Amino acid sequence: MEDKIKQIKADIEAEMVKADSSKALFELRTKYLLNKAGIIPGLMKELGKAAKEDRPKIGMLINSLKEWASGYFDKKDAEIKALELKIKNEKEAVDITMPAKKREQGTLHPVSIIKSQLIEIFAGMGFSVLEWPEIENDFYNFTALNTPKEHPARDKQDTFYINEDFMLRTHTSPGQIRTMTTVKPPFKVLVPGRVYRADDDATHSPMFNQMEGLVIDKNITLCDLQGMLDVLVKKMFGSDTKTRFRPSFFPFTEPSVEVDVSCFECGGKGCKLCKNTGWIEILGGGIVNRNVIINCGLDPDKYTGFAFGLGLDRIAMLKYGVNNIHTFFENDVRALKQFKD
Ligand code: PHE
Repeated sequence: MEDKIKQIKADIEAEMVKADSSKALFELRTKYLLNKAGIIPGLMKELGKAAKEDRPKIGMLINSLKEWASGYFDKKDAEIKALELKIKNEKEAVDITMPAKKREQGTLHPVSIIKSQLIEIFAGMGFSVLEWPEIENDFYNFTALNTPKEHPARDKQDTFYINEDFMLRTHTSPGQIRTMTTVKPPFKVLVPGRVYRADDDATHSPMFNQMEGLVIDKNITLCDLQGMLDVLVKKMFGSDTKTRFRPSFFPFTEPSVEVDVSCFECGGKGCKLCKNTGWIEILGGGIVNRNVIINCGLDPDKYTGFAFGLGLDRIAMLKYGVNNIHTFFENDVRALKQFKD
């Protein structure tokens, strides 16, 4: 029996050399110790076969083998688990000296920035936003807007026609007609959107963005437009900004005005931005022409209103000092990322 026990010890030590994981070690422990059928518990059977007087001695030998084996397995198990943990930690280690991964964050397009700023200012004055189609017919884009057949704005050079009846809208003013024929006055609306004209140079793009404003109510005068624009430009360009109205002409407003703001670059002294005039033109507007009110089926003796249209790209160019409108549409993120509100 003593030899057998020696042999078992030697076997365990030999097999232990090959056990290279805690799983393999567990299997080894099962084989020798844990199962009833395990090699060491199995020795107990032999105890029964031994001569009575030898049994206490053999029993002691088996027990001490058991103790030795479980201590040995525990020790090896601790060693192997420590090693495994070390390997795992090394594998998962984070090198805090590595430069962090760059998290790219998008920015708003400059035209979107201007658009949201304007909407926010107008919303504070009770305006709501409506969007209308970019493909229009003659009635909405021209006729109802009191633009007679021979008006130069209808020239094929300016307008992208899709067919005899349809065109890409040349301004957001058809939104006036669409609103007046569907929304019951009084109302204040903004109509932002893309518009199209056959025009292409540093300050003109065949597609650009406008925002129409329309107020229809009783007793609206040019003073209301002036008062509202004063609030707008002060919020948009700074509290010192002044406005100036110049007489102009649009078929759909009478009287019509062009509105300048005192140059926000030089404060009115004269600089490159305002071409030394001290003023910068920002929008066209006026009192809605009676004919337009009539064309929309409203009573011109009951309702009056003002309308204005401003170029979002133009304002973005002025505000951000961009001298080529195409910068906004070439979609070079390196350029677009520079604009912040
Ligand atoms: N629709 C005009 C344009 O595109 C601007 C405008 C709008 C003028 C509303 C008067 C009233 O130039």
